[in-house]
Amino acid sequence: MRVLLAGASGAVGTPIVKALIKSGHEVVALTRRPGGAPAGTTELVGDALDRDGLLAAVRGLEADAVMHQLTALKKAPMRHRDLAATDRLRTEGTANLLAAARAVGARRFVTQSNLFGYGYGDLGPRVHTEKDVFGQGGYGRFDPHIAALRSTEQQAFAAEGIDGIALRYGAFYGAPGDPVIEMLKGRKLPALKGGPISFIHVEDAAAATVAALEHGRDGEAYNVVDDEPSPWRDFFHCAAAHVGAPAPMSLPGWTVRPIPLLHAIMTGSYRLSNAKAKSELGWAPSLPTYREGIAAM
Ligand SMILES: NC(=O)c1ccc[n+]([C@@H]2O[C@H](COP(=O)([O-])OP(=O)(O)OC[C@H]3O[C@@H](n4cnc5c(N)ncnc54)[C@H](OP(=O)(O)O)[C@@H]3O)[C@@H](O)[C@H]2O)c1
Repeated sequence: MRVLLAGASGAVGTPIVKALIKSGHEVVALTRRPGGAPAGTTELVGDALDRDGLLAAVRGLEADAVMHQLTALKKAPMRHRDLAATDRLRTEGTANLLAAARAVGARRFVTQSNLFGYGYGDLGPRVHTEKDVFGQGGYGRFDPHIAALRSTEQQAFAAEGIDGIALRYGAFYGAPGDPVIEMLKGRKLPALKGGPISFIHVEDAAAATVAALEHGRDGEAYNVVDDEPSPWRDFFHCAAAHVGAPAPMSLPGWTVRPIPLLHAIMTGSYRLSNAKAKSELGWAPSLPTYREGIAAM
């Protein structure tokens, strides 16, 4: 397939480009910066938030699929305002990319979603599947972020004549230059007491994304997570030991309560099942837990 990929130069987009090319697909990479497209792709310069400019940029282009992997997360989000630009990419950005998908004649649209659409905080001991409630408010100041995830999914599913698929990724790790490693080296990341979260190595996320492009069903969401939800503190201790950094400082979760997003992400419980992705997409994580993933970094 020829795939118009928005976010090709990002932390997740980069391994997705490699996985697409390896599987024989052709990639047209959208970037705002001339020269910003990864090697092996055809560059398309445009801004996903500038609808008219984007539609002008895709004029004359043909593609089989469009993929939305846009974020605006120069660094890990900690405060609500850190997610505002990414929320906009999920609402307006999705609408503009769907307009572009129609213009290029695409029949498939794959969008990035994530585990926080199930809610923020302690989601309890139950392992969440795609049948669980997703995208519903009731979480106060977190609601705009949840609504943005619902928006990108619903827009993709509702697109007339286009198969829409959403990937609910777990917490990413393993990108080259992952800031977590540098922060651990500087002992800037505390090991907070908190519940487990479902992780996914970016290389496995990329493999699942290609599988979803090829085999995902219209109107379906897939959890893309590894096999073992684990607390951040275990992850940090393992990663610190792996890179020879000092053991992270242990702190109770309440110490970061004044930083609400960080508190919710680091101390909540988010257990997701990957059974649907395994059975329907023919995918399984090659790095089933963070232990194998960190060893591979
Ligand atoms: N991505 C995630 O979900 C995530 C999650 C947690 C932590 N992080 C960390 O955050 C750091 C930065 O993440 P990132 O590499 O994903 O970078 P980013 O700054 O979030 O950018 C991601 C991608 O989105 C594209 N993009 C953003 N706005 C756009 C727009 N209006 N129009 C077109 N394209 C647009 C960028 O393309 P151009 O810049 O080429 O235009 C880039 O390819 C990394 O160190 C990563 O580990 C990322």
